[in-house]
Parts: sequence; C-alpha cells; structure tokens
Amino acid sequence: MTPAEAQTKIADLRAQVARHDELYHRKAKPEITDQDYDVLKRELADLETQFPAAAQAAGGESPTERVGDDRAEGFQTYRHRQPMQSLDNTYSETELREFHARLVKLLDREELAYVVEPKIDGLAVSLTYEHGKFVRAVTRGNGIEGDDVTANALTIETLPRELKQIAGEPPLAAIEIRGEIFMTLAEFQRINRAREEGGLELYANPRNLAAGTLKQLDAAEVAQRRLQIVLYGLGFCEPAGAVGDTQSSYHARVRAWGLPTVEKFWTVRGPDEIWAAVRELDAMRGSFAYATDGAVVKLDSLAQQRDAGKTSKAPRWAMAYKFAAERAETRLRAISIQVGRTGVLTPVAELEPVQLAGTTVARATLHNRDEIARKDIRVGDWVSVEKAGEVIPAVVAVNLARRAPECVAFVFPEKCPACGSAVVQLEGEVALRCPNYECPVQVRRRVQHFASKAGVDIDGLGEAMVDTLAEKGWVRSVADLYRLKREDLLTLGKSVEKSTDNLLAALERSKGAELWRFVHGLGITHVGVAAAKDLAGHFGSLDALATAKFEDFIGEKKATRIAGIGETIALAILEFFNQPRNRALIGELASLGITPAAAVKTAGPVSTLLAGKTFVLTGTLPTLTREAAAALIESAGGKVSGSVSKKTSYVLAGAEAGSKLEKAQALGVAVIDEAEFTRMVSVGAN
Ligand code: IVH
Repeated sequence: MTPAEAQTKIADLRAQVARHDELYHRKAKPEITDQDYDVLKRELADLETQFPAAAQAAGGESPTERVGDDRAEGFQTYRHRQPMQSLDNTYSETELREFHARLVKLLDREELAYVVEPKIDGLAVSLTYEHGKFVRAVTRGNGIEGDDVTANALTIETLPRELKQIAGEPPLAAIEIRGEIFMTLAEFQRINRAREEGGLELYANPRNLAAGTLKQLDAAEVAQRRLQIVLYGLGFCEPAGAVGDTQSSYHARVRAWGLPTVEKFWTVRGPDEIWAAVRELDAMRGSFAYATDGAVVKLDSLAQQRDAGKTSKAPRWAMAYKFAAERAETRLRAISIQVGRTGVLTPVAELEPVQLAGTTVARATLHNRDEIARKDIRVGDWVSVEKAGEVIPAVVAVNLARRAPECVAFVFPEKCPACGSAVVQLEGEVALRCPNYECPVQVRRRVQHFASKAGVDIDGLGEAMVDTLAEKGWVRSVADLYRLKREDLLTLGKSVEKSTDNLLAALERSKGAELWRFVHGLGITHVGVAAAKDLAGHFGSLDALATAKFEDFIGEKKATRIAGIGETIALAILEFFNQPRNRALIGELASLGITPAAAVKTAGPVSTLLAGKTFVLTGTLPTLTREAAAALIESAGGKVSGSVSKKTSYVLAGAEAGSKLEKAQALGVAVIDEAEFTRMVSVGAN
C-alpha cells in the first residue's frame, strides 16, 4: 500500500468507525456486530501505526484516540471528577500475554498480581455518593463529561440510596463509583415481545435496550423497564485511601457499602493464571444476571495502576479479552411467515441445520420486512448466524461471494398466510399485520397466551390442544374455554376420559387464579407480568381496570399514579378496553362466574418523607425536569400544587425562581434545592 492509498483508506475507516460509534453510543441502534466493529477499528489502528504520516495527513481526530461519545439531546451534562476512560481490547490469547509482558517491563517487576472480572455488556455509568448519600448518576459521555441521568437511575430498585457505613472506618466525604447499567435477558425478551405485538422495531440485544432506556427523557417510562446496575471501578474518592490499596479490597468495600458488585472475580498471578481464570469465566458466564462479552484483566495493586499510567483513551493497567461470538455459515432454505397473537407477521429464516455454541440452529428470526431488505437477505443465500445477546440466533450477514445468480429478492406476502386477509401497515409501525381479529391463528395464540403458565395457568391446554379446540370451532375466545362440554371433549379420542376430567378440573381451578394472571392473560400490549401485578394490586378487579380512565393512571403533569405504570402502558390499556369486544369479554367472564379479585393496595409510599406532603416547583432545576420531579413526588405519595400557600410543605426551587420563592419566604414555607430533594426521595426508599 502506498502512503497515498493508506491516507485514503484511513480517512474512509475513520468515517466508518465514527458512524458506527454514533449508531452504538448515541442511537443505541448498531448496524454491525461488536466483533465486526472491533475488526474495523483494529484495521484503522494498525494502519495509523504503520503509516503515521498518512494518519496525520488524513486530518481530524481519530476515533482510535477517543472514547465513543454517548451524550444526547435533552440532558444536562456533568463533568466527571476523574475522566472515564475506555479499555483496550483483544480477542487473542497471545495479545493478552503480551499485555502482561509489557507491564513486567514497564514496572520492572517479574511477578504481578491481577484481578480478572467479567466484562459486563451494558453501558458505563458513574455514581456519586456524598456523605454516604446517593446524589448523582452520569453516563460516560465523551469521557470528560457525561449526561446526568439521576432521575432515570433512581428507578433502579437495586441502586442503594445510601451507603452502609463500615464499622471502624471514617465516613466517606465523596466517592465516584463506576459500573454498568444493564438489563436481564428475561426483561429484554418481555419488552421486545411487547414491541413485536405493537408492530414496533425490535431492539437487537439487552445492551442496546438498556442504553436506549437510560436515555429516555421521561423517568416514569424508564421505571417500566426494569434496569439493573453492577459496580466494578473507582473514579474519585475522598478520603483517598478509603477503598484500600488493591482492586480486590475495592470490591470488598463496594460490597460492604451495600452496592451490587460483579458476581465473581479472580485474584491471580502471572499470565497462565490469568488465562485459566478467563477460561473459567467463559465457562460460567451463562449463569450471570448480565450478558458478559469478555473478561477484564486489571493490575490488582492500585499503586502499580498509578505507575503504569494511561493513554488518552485507556489505562495501561487493564485489558479486555473479548469472547468471540460463535458464528456459523449455513444456507437459507426458505423464509416462512409467522402470525402472532396480535396479527403481526414475523419472517423466520428456515436454515439448513447448523451447530452453534453447543446447539443445533435451524430457525432464526428475521424481525421484519425492512430488516430483510436492509441486509438484502435472499432465499438460497449463504448466511452467517450468530447468537445475539448470547442466546437468540440471528442472521447477521449474507455471504455475497457465494450468492447464486438465480437468488432473487424476497417478496413479502401481501396476504395473511393463515386467513388470506390483505395485510396492513399501521402508521408509525414497521410491522405488517393481519387485520382480521377472527384470524384462526390469532385466535389460537390469544387462547394459548391466556392459558399459559404466566396466564391463568391451565394444565393440559398446550398448543396442540388449543389447535384442536379451535379447529372444532368450540373455542373462539377465552370465554369459550369455560363453556366446553364434557360430552364434546369425550369425542376427541378413545381413552380420553381421564385427560378430559383433568382439563375440566384445571379450567375450574383457573377460575380462582390470582387477578394479575387474568390481567396478563388478556394480552394487552405492553402489559407484562410485572405490570399486570401492579395493575391488579391497584385496581382490585377486572371491571375496575376495564372502566378506568386516563386520569386514574396519569395525574397532573403526566405524573404516574400507579408505580410501574406510565403513559405508554396506560394508553395501551385504554385502547384495549375501548374495543367493545374486549369490554364484552369481561362481561362474559363475569356471567360465567369468573370475577377474580385482589386486595386493593394503595400505592405504598416510596419515600417516608414525601408521603402526604405538598410541593410547589419553581425555577429550573439543575438536572431534573419538572415532569421528572413531579413523577418522583407523586410516586412517593406526595402532591404537587401550582401555587404557594400556608398548606405548602416544601417549595422545590431551582435557578431563576420567581414570585413563588418570595411568597414561600414570606409565609415561612421550607425551601429546598434539588440536592436536598434527591436526599429526601432517597430516605426510606431502599
Ligand atoms: S474497567 C478505565 N471493568 O467496558 C476503564 N470496565 O469496553 C475502566 N466494562 O468503558 C473500565 N465491565 O464500560 C471495567 N469489569 C469491568 C467492566 C468494564 C464492562 C465496560 C466499561 C468500559 C468498557 C470498555
């Protein structure tokens, strides 16, 4: 390659990497896999090292020298007390051993101790605690300053509002603790299922969904997607020695303060022990709550970390070894179309079976029509299959070199394969749908969902039985299940007496199932098990839920009235019961003697200090929007009022507060700032 060619290539790669950085960090919608991204970046870094003059001449700053920037519109930014860096990474054992060799030379020591930790596939965040109290959560941003996501982080149940004091140790004045916000696979699947039903674009993996969620501007929406957090690193600490002098002592402190830490870490010496720990981690990572895409190897001694130093982008004392996602190439035999419970048509890749990460993969989702077009996937193609998020197989790319000339672009059907209705695309949706509510496949999927383990749990009503009941024409809605006749069921085969009686007994039992099971079983968009439980606890009966109004869910200033239920879910519920057939179903169930009830819980106050208090908001708060502050107050049992009176408990004042502040002072009403407010929200909220 000539220097001129290198310069062109470098400029091209820089533009590509910058584009993928933007898609990953800011949009949470990557178009290529992490591994393909790492390959591009490595190619760029290698060229820059090989042709330094060309790299200089290519102009601009290289993405190899800075961390990806996640800052987004609508957030206040906050400067980290210590920069948040990224990590150098490798997929090669040799390079991992070279990392150790470099440190041996740099520190002039033969023997070095390391900590090997899981590399969590989430998004980096820095938590600040002052005098033991949680005050702030900030994303990595550009490493120097990040987005203040405190209001959203407060929705994370496992994030302690207060650190436990360690006996015999001086109280901490201030500490910045680094970690990762993530979403469990189960939560990811729940949300994607709801999106699929809603005809919305799917998230590619839990990491992207966690990132997209944390950057929502409405904390009430964030609360509906359950995020979690794990902590593994230190930014700033005062007094300085409070975490001990090694990374392992730091882990012990983090745990003792009551913060969630990595599930396991290894303290090892030398490269062989590093490698053994990495292998062990790889073997067990499937059992962790978070997706783990590698191992992070860190010098254990904090003094040695300081001596080793850092580059502009990453510390020299740490290295990430990434596990290559297993990929396999196979032929796409056909694309079949599945009809879901809500009529969404999902294209599925029918593959020539292939071994992948210990299982045989014969099918993979293709998500929707647009996705097939974007990747230009054609029947007969050789495609690469990967386990996205380590579990769900996905077609990630087409091998164009092996494409046969007769392969033609896939034409998405215009008719529902089950009932022949013309498919429709609703405004704002990517999915195509069968609009026929009576479509036999939709009917079966609805009944199956109602009877499932997470529904009213009817033993003996699996897919095959539901299909039979539907084919016979006995079951067209879930209410029909309770109208099944013993004499009809007995005609289904020879010795079916016992199974018939079992089924009838299970149906009878299901009438007494908990209310949340019915609520979930109805299949309302966005209402998963957790939301169904929240709704059941709040409304106490199907009828109360079915007749609820918008104001029963959402209060003034869009504040949620029911913990865990924000505007999206509320609107989906109203839309569901706006359909006469759904309201009629509740009536039918009641006439069949099914009126499940739950003890009504008034939403328990989240914070003990806000319950029953009246707040007035004025001025611009440093990080919280008014809506977010109001949501926090209302979800903790407080009230927000528009004007100051003697009855006002607190005025929460920000910058440029006007007459309301003056009135509060005149009346002697307590005035608090956001920091004080955040502390109040925290008290008793653990
Ligand atoms: S230590 C100075 N430890 O991976 C950099 N990072 O690809 C300290 N990550 O930006 C980072 N698990 O967001 C560290 N156990 C772990 C980690 C971890 C995940 C993330 C972190 C970092 C990124 C680099």
